Amino acid sequence: MKPAKRCNQERGDKMQDKISASIMCADLLNLGDDIKELKKAGVDYIHWDIMDGVFVPNYSMNQDFMKVAREITDLKFDTHLMITDPARYIDKFAEAGTDLMVVHAEATIHLHRVVQQIKAKGLKVGVAINPATPVCSLNHVIGDLDLVLVMTVNPGYAGQKMIPATLDKIEEVREMVEKKGLEIDIEVDGNVSFENAVEMKKRGANVFVAGTSSIFHKDLSIVEATRKLRELLAEV
Ligand code: DX5
Ligand code: ZN
Repeated sequence: MKPAKRCNQERGDKMQDKISASIMCADLLNLGDDIKELKKAGVDYIHWDIMDGVFVPNYSMNQDFMKVAREITDLKFDTHLMITDPARYIDKFAEAGTDLMVVHAEATIHLHRVVQQIKAKGLKVGVAINPATPVCSLNHVIGDLDLVLVMTVNPGYAGQKMIPATLDKIEEVREMVEKKGLEIDIEVDGNVSFENAVEMKKRGANVFVAGTSSIFHKDLSIVEATRKLRELLAEV
């Protein structure tokens, strides 16, 4: 397989490295302080993992948290809907302040229609695929997307280990994007550690969901960890 483009210079501006901080991994008792730290650290997005306890075996934040966070930060919101039938909540998360809405290919029987509905709200749109979902399932919708999210763990929980086979999927998506002449971000989510992030970028990823494995690392401050991740990625 042709090696993925290795550095930002070869990619359009759209493909610059972006760090999307997984807010479910923040200090939930001091969310406002952590959001301010994330802004200081210079992350590109706040990543909101929205879980319904059905599509994934866990339950997390909802649009109410996002609404109050929207009042204290201008950071862009990357909303990862790990919920069944996401069409039901497009409006609610759009109103709550989402900039980029990512739905799962496995969560709706009308994926093309849901993507159009999100675009009609003026939002950026992405589609996520779980570890066992083939990349070819994106074939007939990828041309309408701003981003593809390759899950590198089974969604639902922080603190998991990356599934090595998902690295090949990142490369497969990058291949598809380049073959179709598209400029689409490729996001990775799950155990994006300092070490894994470098390998994920080599395979073609450029948006990194950073959680307990990196910027909410117990031994580093948010600013220190973000700087470390940024520097490591810049060397790839
Ligand atoms: C998976 C979660 C995690 C989390 C990142 O559903 O979305 O990916 O945000 O946390 P770590 O870095 O612990 O995997
Ligand atoms: Zn996520």
